[in-house]
Amino acid sequence: MQYSQKVLDHFMKPHNIGKLENPDATATEGSPACGDQVSIYLSVNPETQVIEDIKFQSYGCASNIATASIITDMAKGKTLEQAKKIGWKEAAEALDGLPPIKMHCSVLAVDTLRKAITDYEIKHNLAEEAVFSKDSIVEELKKVIYPQVGEDIITLKMVKYAGFENGVAIIDLDIPKFDKYRDNVAEEIREHLEKFKEIKEVKITM
Ligand code: FES
Repeated sequence: MQYSQKVLDHFMKPHNIGKLENPDATATEGSPACGDQVSIYLSVNPETQVIEDIKFQSYGCASNIATASIITDMAKGKTLEQAKKIGWKEAAEALDGLPPIKMHCSVLAVDTLRKAITDYEIKHNLAEEAVFSKDSIVEELKKVIYPQVGEDIITLKMVKYAGFENGVAIIDLDIPKFDKYRDNVAEEIREHLEKFKEIKEVKITM
């Protein structure tokens, strides 16, 4: 697999690695695509809401370690609002690219940063816990990467319909039978959605 020099540099010598002793907020997320995990710890100035310190621990692959390293660099010194806008594509670009099959590793790192920010906001009454809806499902589907091209299935218009009725998530996919990633994508969708307590069943048609 071809990695850029920047990915290799951040993987060999990751920045901001470790744990903060008394973090103001933290999050740990796992990737449904591979089972790997990453934790992020934040120290935030309560007056300015600037991220003054940030650390991460990764139990993931080289791409995940490199992305966590670069997004913690990007987030440090930014306000929570600014840090929320860091996206997985931007993180991958900052690393001079990732192989398409490894894009989900960047999604995992960025998702964990956003969850840590949400953790801070909820603890400090800056935000309320989001009400689960069909939009929550669509947001989650934007994190499912089609590995052949390294793009999410919503952008690729592979989702014909996404709905939520009486605890059942209903997803209709537009992926041809001969597509070798079809079953992987369906499995990953299940893993993404089954973690929500609001979802009792996931129905996928293709
Ligand atoms: Fe699991 Fe990269 S393969 S995070």
